[in-house]
Amino acid sequence: MINLLIKNGRIIDPSQGIDGIGDILIEAGKIKKVRIQKSKFRKETKNTDLKILSEELKTIDAKGLIVMPGLIDMHVHLREPGFEYKETIKTGTIAAVKGGFTTVCCMPNTYPVNDNASVTEFIIRKAAQEGCCIVLPIGAITKEQKGEELAAIGTMKNEGCIAFSDDGHPVLNSLIMRRALEYSKTFDVPIISHCEDLTLSENGVINEGLISLTLGLNGIPSEAEQIMVFRDISLAELTGGNLHIAHVSTEGSVEIIRDAKKRGINVTAETCPHYFSITEEAVRGYDTNAKVNPPLRTKRDIEAIKNGLKDGTIDVIATDHAPHHRDEKLKEFDMAPFGISGLETALGLSLRLVKEGILTLSQLVEKLTLNPARILQTDKGSLKVGNDAHIVIVDGNKEFKVEAEKFVSKGKNTPFEGWVLKGMPVITISKGRVYEW
Ligand code: DOR
Repeated sequence: MINLLIKNGRIIDPSQGIDGIGDILIEAGKIKKVRIQKSKFRKETKNTDLKILSEELKTIDAKGLIVMPGLIDMHVHLREPGFEYKETIKTGTIAAVKGGFTTVCCMPNTYPVNDNASVTEFIIRKAAQEGCCIVLPIGAITKEQKGEELAAIGTMKNEGCIAFSDDGHPVLNSLIMRRALEYSKTFDVPIISHCEDLTLSENGVINEGLISLTLGLNGIPSEAEQIMVFRDISLAELTGGNLHIAHVSTEGSVEIIRDAKKRGINVTAETCPHYFSITEEAVRGYDTNAKVNPPLRTKRDIEAIKNGLKDGTIDVIATDHAPHHRDEKLKEFDMAPFGISGLETALGLSLRLVKEGILTLSQLVEKLTLNPARILQTDKGSLKVGNDAHIVIVDGNKEFKVEAEKFVSKGKNTPFEGWVLKGMPVITISKGRVYEW
């Protein structure tokens, strides 16, 4: 059980409206006290000194550093069970903790698929034994993610699934999606939609446009995403269900979601760092590390996504951490799997939004803690007194060069190799352990 005093850091916790210099006392692994000395937004709180209640108390001087709740990544692929050669619960959660995340939600496209309570139970057990951070499983919407028959959503929820998604695949059948959204109301869980009209994306491997034409690769038009975003929002309106749109990549999707929110429809959305950091240009040279689904789009889409983040249309930044084996990514472009290993670059890439003035630091932390916590209805992502101490301490000025070989994730598939990013976690406190990087 850890006893710790974190002193003089800039504490940011959107769940309590905190942004100020202060101290956090952790006792027996739980947050005992948060004291703000100087705040941008709040009146000074009582200047009671934090008493050292335990002899073994260690102190961390966080002067000049940012102290925030451990980040929540509501979209990762941990690959276990079944694809342990790509990633395991152990390696994936170490990568999470290194990236500043202390809660990750794992997608069900494992083998077997997490479409029943016994797979859910396996993931929860394995994560309890070997996970370095909290793992919240996401169950499949349909059996084997085939889109044909609903999975046992209620039983999986009781076993611990926090949300439901067929991620990696869309639910093409509108009636099944309608039923899933109806169930989402009954069981009070979000349905996370991978929006892709497969009849349009066909065998596409990159964004449809001049580059797909030049490279001679099949393109995926933006409409393949947007049509399904529109369909699912219509179904959310029809059912009053609880809809979350995964990995938004296009301008059109942002517009449809913005309009739906204005009309009061129950929809939330996420994007990933690669969709606001790089365009389809990254694929020139047939770099399979930039092959991802949905595909990287255009400058215009990036601008729209940034605007969507800024005005709150996009609630969450998630990584869609999709580790693959090097040999798979070495295949020719058409044959290589989709996906980017994202946990270890997400924070550095996201902090660029603050530098560019798109988001304030507090707004960014909100999209990485409070907003996913609200969607998932969990108490994680908050420094409230009494919560387990899940905390990340970030040096906003520390630069690091992205070198896939140094990733602790098994997935070395990044299109950001060689990039120099500013801002990295220096200490992560997760599941009662203190990790220093
Ligand atoms: O790029 C992707 N990779 N997109 C997905 O939807 C699935 C994921 C994976 O599982 O590799």
